[in-house]
Amino acid sequence: MTDIRSKAIGCGSYLPANILTNDQLAQRIDSSDEWISRRTGIRQRHIAADGERASDMAVAASKRAIEDAGIEPSEIDLVIVATSTPDHTFPATAVQVQAALGASGGPAFDVQAACTGFIYALSIADQFIRTGQSKCALVIGSEVFSRILDWEDRGTCVLFGDGAGALLLKASNGDEPGVAKNGRPGVMSTHLHADGRHVDLLYVDGGAGTTQTAGTIKMVGREVFRHAVDKLAGVVDEALAANGLDTSDVDWLVPHQANVRIIDAMGRKLGLPEDRVIKTVDRHANTSAASIPLALAEATSQNKIRRGDLVLMEAIGGGLTWGAALLRW
Ligand SMILES: CC(C)(COP(=O)(O)OP(=O)(O)OC[C@H]1O[C@@H](n2cnc3c(N)ncnc32)[C@H](O)[C@@H]1OP(=O)(O)O)[C@@H](O)C(=O)NCCC(=O)NCCS
Repeated sequence: MTDIRSKAIGCGSYLPANILTNDQLAQRIDSSDEWISRRTGIRQRHIAADGERASDMAVAASKRAIEDAGIEPSEIDLVIVATSTPDHTFPATAVQVQAALGASGGPAFDVQAACTGFIYALSIADQFIRTGQSKCALVIGSEVFSRILDWEDRGTCVLFGDGAGALLLKASNGDEPGVAKNGRPGVMSTHLHADGRHVDLLYVDGGAGTTQTAGTIKMVGREVFRHAVDKLAGVVDEALAANGLDTSDVDWLVPHQANVRIIDAMGRKLGLPEDRVIKTVDRHANTSAASIPLALAEATSQNKIRRGDLVLMEAIGGGLTWGAALLRW
């Protein structure tokens, strides 16, 4: 059997034009730029315009990924959108994206695993490609968390922002020219977890099947923080061990962007210098399922991550869900 791998061929992102700074927020709630930036590393976030939806942002990010990859939209035979803020209960945001791009008639669906959504979607896409069911997958994270925030709850409203990121994966059997000497490009492994006993730590108190309204985010921040440090360390070890790798093999950490203190703790664990850890949390805040592809797109467009580099991604979110992925760029 051919050993097919999912090779990253392009990345794109989109951020709404409207920026909300900590100082602007502190005029509405009892908080300050000093408190928010010291505890979280966040200084500002982007907020979607009225009427701007997850699908609009996903399409914008995807068009940039398609341009980056230099492919035709018709080559895309799988579209997965990771989102907790879809345009509608159904149809999936992914089918709207598929139509807007003019992608082929392959499967298109949404994945909801809160802030771990992109890692879940990446894992699913990788399995479609490895089993030969898809040849070119578009994996997107797109969120309008500004619509599910309680703007009077200072414990949560300061933490989140809106945006979208997209990654294109293509089936590769490794025999194309230009394959890096230090390893075959592609997703090496993905590692997914959930523990539904912790639903009360981070959730949205509404939905179509209960309140018929979207609801707003509720969070026990301190407990989520404790689980994050513990579970992310565990899943990172699991990913490295599964590939017989050591922390020193990792070139780049592209973590979920929730809190700079969690990100720095993971960077220290891996022994990575600061400039090998991609950080966007200061400017984007937590964009949930969009944060990793947004960070990937920034790092690749700045020519930081290059072909052959080993990229480690990790995330944790409501559920609790958590996961990691190792990708040879
Ligand atoms: C949210 C978080 C920054 C709060 O920091 P913390 O040090 O745990 O702070 P606490 O929640 O214990 O609150 C400490 C105090 O700050 C206050 N506070 C909370 N939010 C505040 C804000 N935006 N501005 C000013 N004060 C604030 C609290 O009311 C509390 O005051 P009190 O001591 O008078 O009761 C932190 O818990 C965190 O980052 N958790 C992880 C969250 C996360 O990553 N979630 C997403 C995962 S995908």
